[in-house]
Amino acid sequence: MAEITVAESAGFCFGVDRAVKLCYQALEQHPHVATLGPIIHNQNVVDDLTRRGARIVDSIADLQPDECVVIRSHGVSAAVYDQLEQAGNPYVDATCPFVAKIHRIVEEHTRAGDFILIAGDANHPEVAAIVGHCKGNCFVFESEEALNNFFQKKLVNSRKRLAIVAQTTYNILVWEKCLEALPKDNPNIMVYDTICHATQVRQSDADKLSRKSDLMIIVGGRHSSNTVKLYHVCNRNCRSYHIENSDELYTLDLGNAEKIGITAGASTPAHIIKEVQQTMTEIMDNNAVEEDINFAEAL
Ligand code: F3S
Repeated sequence: MAEITVAESAGFCFGVDRAVKLCYQALEQHPHVATLGPIIHNQNVVDDLTRRGARIVDSIADLQPDECVVIRSHGVSAAVYDQLEQAGNPYVDATCPFVAKIHRIVEEHTRAGDFILIAGDANHPEVAAIVGHCKGNCFVFESEEALNNFFQKKLVNSRKRLAIVAQTTYNILVWEKCLEALPKDNPNIMVYDTICHATQVRQSDADKLSRKSDLMIIVGGRHSSNTVKLYHVCNRNCRSYHIENSDELYTLDLGNAEKIGITAGASTPAHIIKEVQQTMTEIMDNNAVEEDINFAEAL
């Protein structure tokens, strides 16, 4: 009989939970509500909010007059706050407080003339928003190699005051390598470890669980960067699959895994994790029955 274990830290983090609750609250308090982009990378939640009347808009220019807009947990650039003030629409700021803290760090440092290094994916909305709070120069890099290149090309003066921050979902192991790559001869580098604790715990739980599992299932939106990172953490240790919902389990080759681990990204609701666990249990129970029948027929 297969043993199925769900990681304790699987699912909604504090910031996503808060953003989703603020969105439902906004729907109760305002006749017209829009979210600036999908509130989270989870289609079920987005569909439910849409059914209740929330629209998704791409920019402030798309808002109807008086429509209340919810800013998602990834945050937005300073320019978007300016546009909102000008448009005069009411808004609910669901930026995760941990992300807002990064905005304050980069704003203060760039105002003081410091150069900002941002570890993260330049195309991710959280990173775009962080860049949008810099009042001076910054450089976004995804890997230790890119950071090394930056220093080799001498793009900043070797004595320049620098501050380094990370996207909240940045890979801890890569972050540690990046810190080692910082020039040792510049005493003016301020390091801010802004990787979210929830992400650290989720990645480290996923790492531990995948080391003792034959198979890992990682549940979360295809476009959820923290879910994709969990997949990569697990796939180093055992066969791993990234799925969005329990239906996809039927399409996978589960083989004869005996120890199966399940974890989920920060935007995966608890009920979807439960469904995956139940479906996985049913599939493995059926497989066990089939094996017994085949064994009996072979006798
Ligand atoms: Fe915030 Fe951490 Fe979640 S930064 S949105 S609590 S992953």
